[in-house]
Amino acid sequence: GIRVGILGTGSALPQRVLTNADLEKMVDTSDEWIVSRTGIRERRIADENTAASDLSVEAANKALEDSGISPDDIDLIICATVTPDFMFPATACLVQDRLGIKKTGAFDLSAGCSGFLYGLSCAVSMIQAGVAKNALVIGVDTLSKITDYTDRNTCVLFGDGAGAVVLGQVPEGRGFLGFDLGADGSGGEQLMQLAGGSRNPATQESVLNRQHSVTMNGKEVFKFAVRVMNTATEDVLRKVGLTKEDVDFLVPHQANIRIIDYARERLGLPQDKVVVNVDRYGNMSSASIPVALDEAKRQGRFKEGDVLLMVGFGAGLTWGAAALRW
Ligand code: ACO
Repeated sequence: GIRVGILGTGSALPQRVLTNADLEKMVDTSDEWIVSRTGIRERRIADENTAASDLSVEAANKALEDSGISPDDIDLIICATVTPDFMFPATACLVQDRLGIKKTGAFDLSAGCSGFLYGLSCAVSMIQAGVAKNALVIGVDTLSKITDYTDRNTCVLFGDGAGAVVLGQVPEGRGFLGFDLGADGSGGEQLMQLAGGSRNPATQESVLNRQHSVTMNGKEVFKFAVRVMNTATEDVLRKVGLTKEDVDFLVPHQANIRIIDYARERLGLPQDKVVVNVDRYGNMSSASIPVALDEAKRQGRFKEGDVLLMVGFGAGLTWGAAALRW
C-alpha cells in the first residue's frame, strides 16, 4: 500500500500572553496552585478580531511552505476543532477559500482534544484508499472564546492556537504505522458546552446562565485521561508490532503536566524524549499536539527513522493514538 507521512508542519499562536499573575487578578487562584496542579505558567489568547480560521490559515501556510507542496496539489482539508468560526459553514471551507485551493474536499471534525489524531487517521486512510493525494490536517481551537473567566476551575487551563501538517506519500520505511481511536460517550457530560446546539438552542437564559462556556468535571476527566493515555499507547504499539522500548519520542496532548508525566513514566522515557509546551500555551485542545510537533521539528529534535508516538484524550469522551516513523 501507499506509505503516508508528514511532508511539512506549521503553527500559529496569538500574540497576547495571559500569565498566572494576570489570572490571580481575575479569579481566586494563585500561580503556586496553577503551576503545582497543571504545570501551566502562561497561555496565548486570541483577540476579538481573531477566530479559528485566521490561526488555521497562518499555520497552514507555514506547513505548505515547509512541505514544498503547492496549494494546488492539496485535495483534502480537515479541520479538527470544537471552536469553529461558525457552527456552519465548516472552518475547513473558510480555509480552503482563503488559501485559494481550487479542487479539494473540506470538512470539520469534532472530537475534542483528540481531534487532531482523528483527523490524521481520516486523512491517512483516505490517501491510502486513493480518495486524496495530499491532505492538509489542521488542529485549531480558540477555547478562550467559550471560556467563563469567572470560573477558576476552567479558565486557568485553556489557551488558543493552531497547528497544521501536510500529508502525502513518503518512501518505504517511513510514515504512519498505525492508529488507535476510542470513544466513551457515557462520559460526555464530564466535559461539554451545554447550549447552542439542537438540544438547548441559544436563548437569553442560556447566555445568562453561561451555558455557552466549557463546563468540566476536572477530577473525572483527570482519571479518564491517565487511564486512556496508557491503554491507547499500549494498544497502538501492539497493533503496529512495536514495544515501548522502540519509542523515541512521545508527543502527547498537553492538558496537564501531571498527566503527561504519568504517560512518560509508563513508557519509561526520559524527560528530553517528551515534547512539552503546556507550560507556555496551556491546553489548546486539538492544537496542542500539532503545535508541539511543529516546534520540536523546527528545533531539529527528530531524526530520520525515529519512532514518534502521539496520544491524546478529550471531549466526547474520546481518545486517540498514532505511531509514526519520522
Ligand atoms: N485555583 C485555586 N483553586 C482551584 C482552582 C484554581 N484555579 N481550580 C479549582 N480549585 C479548587 C477547587 O475548587 C477544589 O476545591 P475544593 O476541594 O474546596 O472543592 C480544589 O481546587 C480541587 O483541587 P484538586 O482536587 O487538588 O484538583 P486536581 O488535582 O484534580 O486538579 C485539575 C484540578 C487541574 C483541573 C485536574 O483535575 C485536571 O487537570 N483535570 C483534567 C482536565 C483536562 O484534562 N481537561 C481536558 C480538557 S480537554 C477539552 O476537550 C477542552
